[in-house]
Amino acid sequence: MTYAIEAEGLVKRFKETEALAGVDLAARKGTVLGLLGPNGAGKTTAVRIFATLLRPDRGRARVAGHDVVGEAGVVRSLVGLTGQYAAVDENLTGTENLLLIGRLLGLPRREAKARAGELLERFQLTHAAGRAAKTFSGGMRRRLDLAASLVGRPSILFLDEPTTGLDPHSRGELWDLLRGLVADGATALLTTQYLNEADVLADDIVVIDKGRVIAEGTPDQLKAQVGGQVLELRPIVGQDLARAHALVAGAAGPAARIEGETVTAPVKDPELMPAVVRALDREGIAVGELALRRSSLDEVFLSLTGHRAEPGQAEEDGGAAGHDGDGSDRDGTDRDGTDRDGTDRGDTEPGDTVRGDTDGDGSDGDGPVRDGDGLEKAVSRS
Ligand SMILES: Nc1ncnc2c1ncn2[C@@H]1O[C@H](COP(=O)(O)OP(=O)(O)O)[C@@H](O)[C@H]1O
Ligand SMILES: [Mg+2]
Repeated sequence: MTYAIEAEGLVKRFKETEALAGVDLAARKGTVLGLLGPNGAGKTTAVRIFATLLRPDRGRARVAGHDVVGEAGVVRSLVGLTGQYAAVDENLTGTENLLLIGRLLGLPRREAKARAGELLERFQLTHAAGRAAKTFSGGMRRRLDLAASLVGRPSILFLDEPTTGLDPHSRGELWDLLRGLVADGATALLTTQYLNEADVLADDIVVIDKGRVIAEGTPDQLKAQVGGQVLELRPIVGQDLARAHALVAGAAGPAARIEGETVTAPVKDPELMPAVVRALDREGIAVGELALRRSSLDEVFLSLTGHRAEPGQAEEDGGAAGHDGDGSDRDGTDRDGTDRDGTDRGDTEPGDTVRGDTDGDGSDGDGPVRDGDGLEKAVSRS
């Protein structure tokens, strides 16, 4: 089988919201598929379907060739899920968290202990093994969360915005860990709002917006779609900005934009640059900076959707919570994963239904996940 993860025509509705409106995607074995999209695009919904936490209304999803509905048990034994909303138990220590999962997965005590120690070491958490997770920094918690998803040695990983809210250093550490896992043969589906993250990590990218695939390809293919290069022009005099914009728009079309003090435009025609230079000269606009640079995925996104994907300042540790203030938090809990006080996590008790499924959509027949005590943990991390 060539694809470790595949979906055809996935549809999922939540009352009037069509979270997924027919999504096709596929991840080749041993690669990282980046699932990219802004808040509310449907990323988490797709991941939850693959992890058997949610049933699609229509379409099919397969993991290692196994149908996520018909063979949910097999799928669960193969996948590891690192949720958007960190899933470690606040009050347990690093070791205890991993031990618990090992035991839920049916490992004998001794083996579970050995596995916990091994993962703590690999994720540089040995020094904090005996501390309650609530004392961990954001980066440590994400590492513990990722470690937790690996206890069962899954060959297929679902990472749902694993670095949202992390500082750049912790983010880089997580990237390295993920690269190591894939080098060891794992396949990963990584959702992210950070285009540079997808650029750096993903072999292939699927961009979704409002439940639909709007573009796909390798990072380079996507960049080539918008011309591959971007013209940047900054007039010396701020008052010239509007005129400079009009002039570039005249040559490059409506994709020309003003960003801060700079006019940018995707370059599709090699004649654009000389044409702009001539026009600037004609108009007598003095230029402080004029450059051609490679387009970023962000520009790809902008030209595809008309809005930016990057969640602004979310990069600072703990600063991401504000970005979820878009009313997409249906269940009233802070699902951002950066909320570390643990007070809103009463929905993770053993015997509860799957976390994140507290949204009153019990109507969606999520039978496969309601069959046992403590299954939430076992399911979401097995
Ligand atoms: N359990 C749910 N109940 C109601 N609406 C939901 C639920 N889960 C997701 N949605 C809606 O579906 C859309 C996609 O959500 P989601 O998959 O969480 O997007 P993303 O992870 O890309 O931010 C959003 O409009 C969201 O509000
Ligand atoms: Mg999400």
